[in-house]
Amino acid sequence: MGTLWGGRFQKETDRRVREFQDSLSFDFRLWPYDIKGSQAHAQMLVKVGVLAPDEGEAIIKGLAKIYAEFAAGKVQPEGEEDIHSLVEALLVRWVGEVGKKLHTGRSRNDQVATDLRLYLRDEIDAVRQLLKELRRALVDVAAEHVETLMPGFTHLQPAQPVTFAHHLLAYYEMFTRDDARLADCYRRTNVLPLGAGALAGTTFPLDRAYVAELLGFEAVAANSMDAVSDRDFVVEFCAAAALTMVHLSRLAEEIILWSTPQFGFVELDDAFATGSSMMPQKKNPDVAELCRGKTGRVVGNLTGMLLLLKGLPLTYNKDLQEDKPLLFDTVDTLKACLTVFGPLLRTMKVNRERLAAAARAGFIAATDLAEYLVRKGLPFRDAHAVVGRVVLYCLERGKTLEELTLEEYRQFAAVIDADVFAAVGLEASLKARRVPGGPAPDLTRERIETLKNLLR
Ligand code: ARG
Repeated sequence: MGTLWGGRFQKETDRRVREFQDSLSFDFRLWPYDIKGSQAHAQMLVKVGVLAPDEGEAIIKGLAKIYAEFAAGKVQPEGEEDIHSLVEALLVRWVGEVGKKLHTGRSRNDQVATDLRLYLRDEIDAVRQLLKELRRALVDVAAEHVETLMPGFTHLQPAQPVTFAHHLLAYYEMFTRDDARLADCYRRTNVLPLGAGALAGTTFPLDRAYVAELLGFEAVAANSMDAVSDRDFVVEFCAAAALTMVHLSRLAEEIILWSTPQFGFVELDDAFATGSSMMPQKKNPDVAELCRGKTGRVVGNLTGMLLLLKGLPLTYNKDLQEDKPLLFDTVDTLKACLTVFGPLLRTMKVNRERLAAAARAGFIAATDLAEYLVRKGLPFRDAHAVVGRVVLYCLERGKTLEELTLEEYRQFAAVIDADVFAAVGLEASLKARRVPGGPAPDLTRERIETLKNLLR
């Protein structure tokens, strides 16, 4: 096991240093990108006349064979310092001396930055696809509950009538903004560092635009020092991932609450819940809890990335190698959570009766009653006070707003007529909430149609 840099050293690296600094165990997953980047580099070296065509061909074909070996699972992450050294070592083993020409005009500094961007492009696509499936699940479940009455909460106290669909579609909006953030992050990830060399380019006449074209990059990094030092595309991804996880965690928290016997709004499918080793009655929302818990890890990875960069002088420093465990863990965790959450939503049972009962128990038409009084001529502030007294009256007698008689209502305000019952009826109240963005079922139906088309 050699290194790419032994010439000026008179001693072997200490075994403990090798173990400490080698990154192959975790950067191994970059192999497809390292190989593709190398093929593009070789092709460009031929184009500009640095490599002879037959040399380039030998290298590119050799790399293709190595790619097949990796894809077949025949290469193990061992024996070299990092994935770049491993691919190069294999190349020299396979094609001989000519393989040693591949690294002309290139450094591992611009190479690793390129590999990471190629990797992240694919992963952003994969995450966005999973996010789309989760958004689809939200819309599909919502479509079944456009009229499912439930209390909307503030301070976790029953507030106003909404529907289960409207509640779920709030999450749809969050995840859609997360998707837009990922798409935006993709644009800045899609810039080619290769050609920056170690930090100051090279004296070879590299055609960076050609490499960018071969690898599908939108642009070439404009400053070679920035190109090898920059990891803000990783920070951006970690930030978008952290926010996505925070949104998922809020939904997870609600599902955990909703599936308690105290709420009883939903019941998780047996296939998406777990039991207790001691308490036979238990059905636990572990999946939601793990998503909530893993959010901490992903937020931690973002913090880790920011702290990794803080105080790093230009340009490349080995600290930057630490970006990979943070990024990879973020990608893996986010994908794992997104994969399991859609099916969990699709399979959970929604208890319409419990939701409706909770809606009826919480005086959530109180604002509607106040707005009714305003329509009868009271200033809102006075109406608010009147309804407060009505609620107190109900609380003392164990009644709901719908159960009061007209005579009882009249004690509070003479303007109240028989039409008050329509105002405090929850279904009517819901239908009346037709302000754009509101929970009225016909608006929700329209919105769902639009979203279904969008997600096609
Ligand atoms: N394994 C290194 C990393 O992940 C690759 C770049 C090493 N470059 C260097 N000059 N030591 O950052």
